[in-house]
Amino acid sequence: MTEDQINKSNIPKHIAIIMDGNGRWAKNKGYKRVFGHQHGTNTVNEIVEACVDLGVEYLTLFAFSTENWQRPKYEVNSLMKLLVSSIKKELQNMHDQKIKLTAIGDIDKLPEKVKNQLDEVREATSSYENLKLTLALSYSSREEIVNVVKAISQKVKNNVIDVEDIDHSTIDSHLYSHYLPDVDLLIRTSGEQRISNFMLWQIAYAELYFCEVLWPDFNKEHLLEAIYNFQKRERRFGKTSEQLK
Ligand code: IPE
Ligand code: IPE
Ligand code: MG
Repeated sequence: MTEDQINKSNIPKHIAIIMDGNGRWAKNKGYKRVFGHQHGTNTVNEIVEACVDLGVEYLTLFAFSTENWQRPKYEVNSLMKLLVSSIKKELQNMHDQKIKLTAIGDIDKLPEKVKNQLDEVREATSSYENLKLTLALSYSSREEIVNVVKAISQKVKNNVIDVEDIDHSTIDSHLYSHYLPDVDLLIRTSGEQRISNFMLWQIAYAELYFCEVLWPDFNKEHLLEAIYNFQKRERRFGKTSEQLK
């Protein structure tokens, strides 16, 4: 698969990726799981760069779920350290490529060091428009939706919103991801075919793409394959094929 097989006028606007398989990748090689996470950061850099090249507007990466807090303390700590170091290390690259970094999830739950590093880079890249890169951290889609319900209920109670006026856009505007468009293409690596509580509302009409490759082995060519596959599909949004012509 090469870049010239890709139709440049039909690049998914918003790609979201469930980056899975780091632990298995390391274990297969006889290493500890954390080694896989370290290698996974190289993949992140390659994929971010590929998205910039292709003109993808939004890339959202599932990096740490609310459920992942239940992992062994050593692994959680290593992941947090890795987050700080890789965000820090990539700042210059984000400046060079005009990448805007944001985050979704229960950010307050993250250790102070991660929050500070994240804040610094979010602020430093806030004016950039090239690729909007979002990290889902301490993220749970169900929790996000519960928060939306709470926020809207409060507004109804305070007569700020009328119940009758609640529609899709009301929900959208209260999500962590309120500034992101719907996901067009959702990729999950490592062969698992599940969503694991990721952007349930936002993927309502996303094209789902599952691939066997473990995240540390995923590369630009695999991404091109996913986009190529996406471009062969007909997105009907409930209409008939004829209506789309
Ligand atoms: C994905 O890889 C990274 C995170 C969830 C943080 P995993 O750590 O889930 O790797 P596997 O699925 O156990 O192989
Ligand atoms: C989903 O992967 C979370 C991230 C990729 C950050 P998991 O490995 O945690 O998901 P399950 O537990 O296999 O569903
Ligand atoms: Mg996993």
